Amino acid sequence: MIVTTKKLFAAAYGKYAIGAYNINNLEQAMGLFRGNIDSKAPFIIQISKGARSYTHKKMLEGLITSANEVFPDAIFAVHLDHGDEETCYDCINSGFYSSVMIDASHEPFDKNIEITRRVVDAAHAKGLVVEAELGMLGGVEEHVAVDESNALLTDPRQAREFVERSGCDSLAVAIGTSHGAFKFSGTQGLHFDVLADIQKELPGFPLVMHGSSSVPAEEVERINNAGGQLKGAKGVDDNQFLKAATLGVTKVNIDTDGRLVWTRVHREYFRDKPSEFDLRPVGKIFMGEYANFIAHKNEKLGSAGHLDEVRALVS
Ligand code: G3H
Ligand code: 13P
Ligand code: ZN
Repeated sequence: MIVTTKKLFAAAYGKYAIGAYNINNLEQAMGLFRGNIDSKAPFIIQISKGARSYTHKKMLEGLITSANEVFPDAIFAVHLDHGDEETCYDCINSGFYSSVMIDASHEPFDKNIEITRRVVDAAHAKGLVVEAELGMLGGVEEHVAVDESNALLTDPRQAREFVERSGCDSLAVAIGTSHGAFKFSGTQGLHFDVLADIQKELPGFPLVMHGSSSVPAEEVERINNAGGQLKGAKGVDDNQFLKAATLGVTKVNIDTDGRLVWTRVHREYFRDKPSEFDLRPVGKIFMGEYANFIAHKNEKLGSAGHLDEVRALVS
């Protein structure tokens, strides 16, 4: 069942966070649904602009529609990740998405508000909700490159003004994370002090944490042992998700960790079976491993086990 993130956030706020997972293909879709059903968790499917054009946007929509039939117990939102204005309108008008993210965080404050407001008006008119972003994450976003040292954390007071003026339904905040596998070069971590100040300014308002992959050391080691070169990769400690949830983070974005599962499974498989050329045996292994990965993340986020309770709230 496709629902809006608004309903999921109302159920989770202050207690746990909903996992928001990016997918691009069939194997990820199967693993994602299986992992969420196995762990009895509501979830968010994220589709990036790159994912929409990897094959064809209709292919992903078809996969999700089919998965909804194959897994009738699933409860999830379908969300555009890091949209520009044009892509937001395309998704709003498609009738398929339940929420969009407008990412104008690279624009000056007033311009970010102006663009976000336009998207909010268009989305609300069709019953969709909108995530916006204020502050800049380190690392590379789809159309924004920001050096880690220049990463701009979200200003709590600006956050309140931004939400009031833009009318957005949730806000992605920069609290020290970045996208990709190389988040921290030293002992840096999440800025819980900034997050607590944002929550004080916006009590009860759903906050979103991007760049939340944990880049497990053992995963990186296995990839490197099978021919990869990901030396120095480091992510967010997933034991900190629940603390973030108590401070208002209700959506946690994870993409890179899923890509690492794909890379590890395929590198090890073809290293150990050099004469293999059938794509299905390794695809099967990946789907199982991806499902386990999703279920594990949901345990860390605290969303595992909440499916029936959320069903009662949304139906
Ligand atoms: O934040 C970006 C997401 O990880 C999506 O990545 O644009 O390569 O699909 P992508
Ligand atoms: P990661 O690169 O840490 O998985 O972050 C994904 C993300 O923020 C998608 O919007
Ligand atoms: Zn992101």
